[in-house]
Amino acid sequence: MHLSNGFITARAHTNIALIKYWGKKNDDLIIPNNNSLSLTLDEFYTDTSVKFSNELSKDSIFLDDVDISNSTKIVNFLDIIREKASISEYAYVKSYNNVPTSAGLASSASGFAALAAAASKAAGLQLTSKELSKLARRGSGSATRSIFGGFAEWIKGNTDNDSYGVEIENPVTMDINMIAVVLNDQPKKISSRVGMKRSVETSPYYNAWVKQCEVDLIKAKTAIKENDFNTLGKISESNAMRMHALTMSAEPAFMYFNNDSIQVINSVKTLRENGVECYFTMDAGPNVKIICKSKDIKKIKAALTKTFNDEQIVVSKPGCGVQFIN
Ligand code: ADP
Ligand code: DP6
Ligand code: CO
Repeated sequence: MHLSNGFITARAHTNIALIKYWGKKNDDLIIPNNNSLSLTLDEFYTDTSVKFSNELSKDSIFLDDVDISNSTKIVNFLDIIREKASISEYAYVKSYNNVPTSAGLASSASGFAALAAAASKAAGLQLTSKELSKLARRGSGSATRSIFGGFAEWIKGNTDNDSYGVEIENPVTMDINMIAVVLNDQPKKISSRVGMKRSVETSPYYNAWVKQCEVDLIKAKTAIKENDFNTLGKISESNAMRMHALTMSAEPAFMYFNNDSIQVINSVKTLRENGVECYFTMDAGPNVKIICKSKDIKKIKAALTKTFNDEQIVVSKPGCGVQFIN
């Protein structure tokens, strides 16, 4: 599809949670059980262009040039926008992921943040960032935070109106980088949506997770305020492992780790034993992300390239919030 006039294009970056969102109290509105906190990344993003047209008899949706017009997630999301804007036209949507799709690198976050911004503007709505964040939430929970740059928090709330992301610090003052080790860029077998639902419904540890997240969040926010890199790293690592404990304690149990994930985690521990301050986090997918200071990037890359290729190692700095690019 060729982009002609009248398209609105938005770019949103992915974000990786340091305190994770894992479980909803309302599946339809996507209201989470706990607040979460993330870092938006500069290297991974989605560009989405949208145009509503009375020449269409259904939505025409392309992702990386593949026709995915039958995606109910995206069509339902466009329905929400049509209702808000009181329009009935269908949309052309053309999106490019500069991030592996469905691989645990948060394509749903950048994808729905970019779509929320581009489609709402194309529909004639003028939304504030708070309103955009609430809208993006209807597509994917983690997208609430990708409206914002730097450190962002998703305030869980209880209703459609009080569950949204807020900026915690942007630009970020802390010297923090995130190295993504891309071990498998193929779609995961169990989506975040399905995985977290099973965890909520069957893990006997689920309530303990929700309680612990409150404690972890306070520690993480204090560490950000005090520019305390090590405390933030430690709490992020513990919180990620607590999330993965929910998948392993679900019924049937499942896990997002593969052999390489364990190897990267062990490398992080060895680096730390040798004085390199670095910590890992992992989402719903085998790819490990390493949090580190700028001075240590070279050393960490050198340790990783003993086993992995250069192209598998992507170093990100804090990224910016959603923006229109045309
Ligand atoms: P990830 O770890 O990549 O976030 P998820 O399982 O959370 O994986 O979400 C994957 C889903 O996100 C896809 O099936 C699709 O519905 C949605 N998604 C990914 N990229 C885009 C995009 N550019 N625009 C709209 N939706 C997207
Ligand atoms: C592990 O936001 O992808 O990345 O709301 O169902 O679309 P849905 O799920 P999604 O879940 C993200 C889970 C996570 C942690 C996080 O980003 O907070
Ligand atoms: Co996701």
